[in-house]
Amino acid sequence: MIEVTNLTKRYGSHVAVDNATFTIHDGEILGFLGPNGAGKSTTMNIITGYLSATSGSVKIDGYDILTAPLEAKKRIGFLPELPPLYLDMTVKEYLNFVYDLKKVKLPRRPHINEICRLVKIQEVYPRQIKNLSKGYRQRVGIAQALVGNPDVLILDEPTVGLDPKQIIEIRNLIKLLGKTHTVILSSHILSEVQAVCERVIIINQGRIVVDNTPENLSRIMSDDHSIIARIEGPRREIMAALKSLKGVKSVQAAGAGGYGQEYIINPIVGYDIRRALFSLLAEKNWPLLMLKSSEMTLEDIFLRLTDGTADTAALEKALQARGDKPQEAGGQPAEEEETADFAKGEAAEAEQSQAEEEAK
Ligand SMILES: Nc1ncnc2c1ncn2[C@@H]1O[C@H](COP(=O)(O)OP(=O)(O)OP(=O)(O)O)[C@@H](O)[C@H]1O
Ligand SMILES: [Mg+2]
Repeated sequence: MIEVTNLTKRYGSHVAVDNATFTIHDGEILGFLGPNGAGKSTTMNIITGYLSATSGSVKIDGYDILTAPLEAKKRIGFLPELPPLYLDMTVKEYLNFVYDLKKVKLPRRPHINEICRLVKIQEVYPRQIKNLSKGYRQRVGIAQALVGNPDVLILDEPTVGLDPKQIIEIRNLIKLLGKTHTVILSSHILSEVQAVCERVIIINQGRIVVDNTPENLSRIMSDDHSIIARIEGPRREIMAALKSLKGVKSVQAAGAGGYGQEYIINPIVGYDIRRALFSLLAEKNWPLLMLKSSEMTLEDIFLRLTDGTADTAALEKALQARGDKPQEAGGQPAEEEETADFAKGEAAEAEQSQAEEEAK
């Protein structure tokens, strides 16, 4: 279980993460969703101990990432936004190196073989990482996170830069891993979160605006769902007739062009107007060319929540009314200081010097 309590990260006067509190239970696949600069990577870096928080706490299975970092980090596999790969190493050398670095106790060969099989990198195992495609490098990044078989996987944009086929493969891999691990992943791809995650946290400007299941969110946001009908016939008459239908609150004309005209019909909550609509159109002989409910996608929800127009307080109320637990309060302040994970810090450093070397 991961407990994040009142987490805040400030960079000078800029608040990157603003008092975030949430709990992730064992075996959950949680998606962090948010626009650029929302604070996703910052939150993940703090959870993994790569960054320290300005205040608040993170506990992994009860171990505080600041006061018991070894116990906490042992339980986490991390794929940072920029995977800490050593480009001059072969995949074999690299995974063995990570194995040593993490001081893994599992039998070396079978453990590494099993990971390679799982992330499908056997065929590139003897090759140098710098010669691998982006997708394979990303897989190697996921493989290094799996070394030591940690219970928790934290994957920062695991599918970024991959082609659609690779995206599907990596998504399936994450789903598979989700059966035996607790997974947190961040993404800009809304359909990805919908496809992979059981729970979604939407972050905007450092604040958690929503914490719920993708299904619940769509349902709540579309509770005031309207119906879109494309009808052929005299526009004014149709408009007037639709407005006079029982259960209709309002009607707007939308897209014309092609055949007929689209009407957005907003029913009074609780009314299903489809049958009455059918009878009306049949009676008047106005052909119905299309009928659909305007159910919101996660994408619509995301845009509504992050453009500041949504009533997030009302949404939160609605979600809680559905039995969603309110967030817990509490937590202790932590010191403002940057800590580097033993593996990631060194790897990042090595990559930096390598990059410098390459630049020469
Ligand atoms: N070292 C830093 N110094 C100052 N500000 C920073 C630093 N790192 C991040 N920030 C700021 O903190 C905010 C959150 O950044 P973060 O990288 O967590 O966003 P993100 O949600 O991961 O975005 P993206 O989708 O682009 O990866 C941004 O406004 C960013 O500019
Ligand atoms: Mg990021």
